[in-house]
Amino acid sequence: MADSSPQHSDAFVFFGATGDLAYKQIFPALQAMIVHGRLDLPIIGVAKSDWTIDQFRERARDSLEKHGSFDAAAFEKLSAQLHYISGDYQDAATYAQLRQALGNAVRPLYYLAIPPSMFAPVTEGLATSGGAQNARVIVEKPFGRDLASAQALNRTLHAAFAEEAIFRIDHYLGKEAVENLLYFRFSNTFLEPIWHRAYIASVQITMAEQFGVQGRGAFYEEVGAIRDVIQNHLLQVMVLLTMEVPMNVDAKAGTAAVQDAILYEKLRVLRAMRPLVPDEVVRGQFKGYRDEAGVAADSQVETFSALRLHIDNPRWSGVPFYIRAGKQLLVTCTEVLVELKPPVHPVFDAGTGHPNYFRFRLSPDVLIALGARTKLPGEAMVGTAASLISHRPPGDEMTPYERLLGDALQGDAGLFTSGEAVEAAWRVVEPILDTTTGTTFSDLVPVVMYDPDTWGPPSADQLMEDGDQWDNPAASEDVRQ
Ligand code: BG6
Repeated sequence: MADSSPQHSDAFVFFGATGDLAYKQIFPALQAMIVHGRLDLPIIGVAKSDWTIDQFRERARDSLEKHGSFDAAAFEKLSAQLHYISGDYQDAATYAQLRQALGNAVRPLYYLAIPPSMFAPVTEGLATSGGAQNARVIVEKPFGRDLASAQALNRTLHAAFAEEAIFRIDHYLGKEAVENLLYFRFSNTFLEPIWHRAYIASVQITMAEQFGVQGRGAFYEEVGAIRDVIQNHLLQVMVLLTMEVPMNVDAKAGTAAVQDAILYEKLRVLRAMRPLVPDEVVRGQFKGYRDEAGVAADSQVETFSALRLHIDNPRWSGVPFYIRAGKQLLVTCTEVLVELKPPVHPVFDAGTGHPNYFRFRLSPDVLIALGARTKLPGEAMVGTAASLISHRPPGDEMTPYERLLGDALQGDAGLFTSGEAVEAAWRVVEPILDTTTGTTFSDLVPVVMYDPDTWGPPSADQLMEDGDQWDNPAASEDVRQ
């Protein structure tokens, strides 16, 4: 079985080296790590294409020019570290070649940037050739299509790697703003007493994208918005907002014991989320989606979904959680709004809506706003809504992929999803997915058409309870104010 010690990996191997993910994310992340002096080890690409090392380097250069702001000095270093193996993933000879290319390396990190159908042959190939020993493996999302396939995938990986050696990527967890949620929650004394059903009226998360499927129609037909971003990215955001305080009496700040406590609490809250019911789900499809390449003329796949979720535990019982994600919406922005209940005995005019809230902007910039009411100048005790804002424009922080690859090389699993957590997240969305029941997904929750450049189908409003309303993020904070 694999070594679970936190020693640094001594080689990086990526399967699917000529593919889209490598082109858009992996090469740019590798270059950035070299620029930051964080990557000095053999980098081996594996793929089927019969390429020479020079062709492979050209591909890397092209990727960096298009996606990674090419840096000549870093590229030179990257080129010198690059190796390329062309081979069939089903063929033992590929793994023998890989073993040879690894040379003296004994703790490789493998990245499976390949279609999920290839995970099993590659894992088996690595295990049979002895390549899984002392190794780590990174697996991309989507991690399965439903609970059963996620469990099967976990079994496949566990046959060759220990859980500690498996790094399931959810790139949202590598975003600064998302980490900031966790930090903000547990580093501020004022929050804990009110972070509770007694004070919080509702929570909503909106992930809006102004663009469509960007040529990924065939991929999107297999997933749809719920599998693409809700089961993973947005449930993870909800977990960070709602988990209990991670406790471990032996833990010192920043240690592995703290991380274990965090993973434990994340899993507990996921398991307290009530599985979805069709009445609390709206699915939409933007008009024009069916004309995209790779999309069926009668596609029932959702490009928008809105859900109402519940957490059945003492902290959150009775608080509605509204989640919404969609393509071709009015802006590109991800925001969380935590609405507080109004004062029980308002002494002054409290205005309309909820007077107090926390708003977290997770993308494209990092912002935390606290909504309050303040008095307007004058004799009358009337007030206005004000926002206390902490705002940081996008800076030179690491991209999620640079951050996550660096962490995996160090054996740091804090920003990755455990096998149990992935399964627990599938359990939440499972009841509305087309799996073993034979009922089709679209029979359960029919897809509703919506116009591009809107906030999706108006029926999403019907999910709101007791006068709650969707809060629509603005493209930029300046516009909002
Ligand atoms: C990906 C989804 O996981 O996340 C895409 O497959 C989505 O459909 C993307 O657009 C959004 O991530 P980010 O970091 O670009 O906001």
